[in-house]
Amino acid sequence: MKLDNLFNTNLTKIKPNAIRAFDESASQVEGIIKLTLGQPDFNTPEHVKDAGIKAIQDNQTGYLSTPGDNRLRQAAANFVKEKYDLDYQWEDEVIVTVGATESLSTALQSICNPGDKIIVPSPYFTLYSSIIYLAGGEPIEVDTSANDFVMSPEMLKDTLEEHGDAVKAIILNYPTNPTGVNWTEEDAKAFADVLRDRPIFVISDEVYSELVYEEEHVSIAKYIREQAIVINGVSKSHAMTGWRVGLLFAPANIMSQLVKVHQNLVTTNSTISQLAARAALENGMNDAQPMREKYMMRRDYIYDFMTRLGFKIVKPSGTFYMFARIPEDLEQNSMDFCLDLAHSAAVAFVPGSAFGIGGESHVRLSYAASIDDIKEAMRRLEVFVKEKRENKKIKDY
Ligand SMILES: Cc1ncc(COP(=O)(O)O)c(C=O)c1O
Repeated sequence: MKLDNLFNTNLTKIKPNAIRAFDESASQVEGIIKLTLGQPDFNTPEHVKDAGIKAIQDNQTGYLSTPGDNRLRQAAANFVKEKYDLDYQWEDEVIVTVGATESLSTALQSICNPGDKIIVPSPYFTLYSSIIYLAGGEPIEVDTSANDFVMSPEMLKDTLEEHGDAVKAIILNYPTNPTGVNWTEEDAKAFADVLRDRPIFVISDEVYSELVYEEEHVSIAKYIREQAIVINGVSKSHAMTGWRVGLLFAPANIMSQLVKVHQNLVTTNSTISQLAARAALENGMNDAQPMREKYMMRRDYIYDFMTRLGFKIVKPSGTFYMFARIPEDLEQNSMDFCLDLAHSAAVAFVPGSAFGIGGESHVRLSYAASIDDIKEAMRRLEVFVKEKRENKKIKDY
């Protein structure tokens, strides 16, 4: 019996994950330093871990309600009000999801009909396109590299003109994975002005909102609340990627639809994780601060070092990523560059091509790594670049 053709055809649109394939190859290199990880290198704060342990000891191991723990939702509404001046009623405008990833799936499955177009400023977090395809939609990538990786209102207007009524939503992610760039209040306001009163949802992925360095985080939901679906969570802010707690915020009329998808996908999130996240948001409002300071120092170190080597970098103002343009006298194919760097210098960056159009000729580094590893990786990179400049041959791997 042949079953190969019976799968959901949307699956055929999902390409094999280039990052994973690269990682498998790089991992074979002994002693490799990987600056590839998309998760904090810090431990979950002690008081949060204690809350998780206590939840187990107190036998709080049954289901919670579908939208999530009441006190966690109150704390979440309070958190985004205090920090970002966003107004959401915890009772019917906040739900707890399984990581920000489920928030994305819930949002897109709630709004997409077959063929709906979803605008995605590119380079972008790699799951966006596959989650859109699985929801039946079609990603429309817009190359932002010419504008320092921020999508301008003009780019938005042009894209809307080209794709017309088929556009159902746009996914924004400031500060951005993979570039670390952020937008300003003026950028957000001007963008909101173009979207306001158009029948388009704005899915705003703000998972790095607590990792903004010198400026304030700006949420577009402040300017177009009625159209906005805000995604956040504790994965990056509280070093809790493995606890899988995301947060979804939307006006009640939108949330009443989203919650149906959430319920049918997962019923509810883990009780233990929710009670830990409750502690994070009730008692750890500023837990991100010490991590942010360390990330900033590492950013400065790498930025200065790589700029000196000839990489062009838009200095990140948040996240723990840096997106560096490979110097023009070196290999421009980012996969070939990264494979060569991994196998001959034992340093792993992620090829920029993995992040969509506008990403080629770049590499993404994550500085969620110790400063010792970062310094050694930079030293190896410098030797590698010097050797390449002296002998430009690239080997095949
Ligand atoms: C931009 C962005 N959104 C969402 C996620 C997923 O977050 P979570 O681990 O909470 O599902 C990530 C993880 O790297 C991310 O970079």
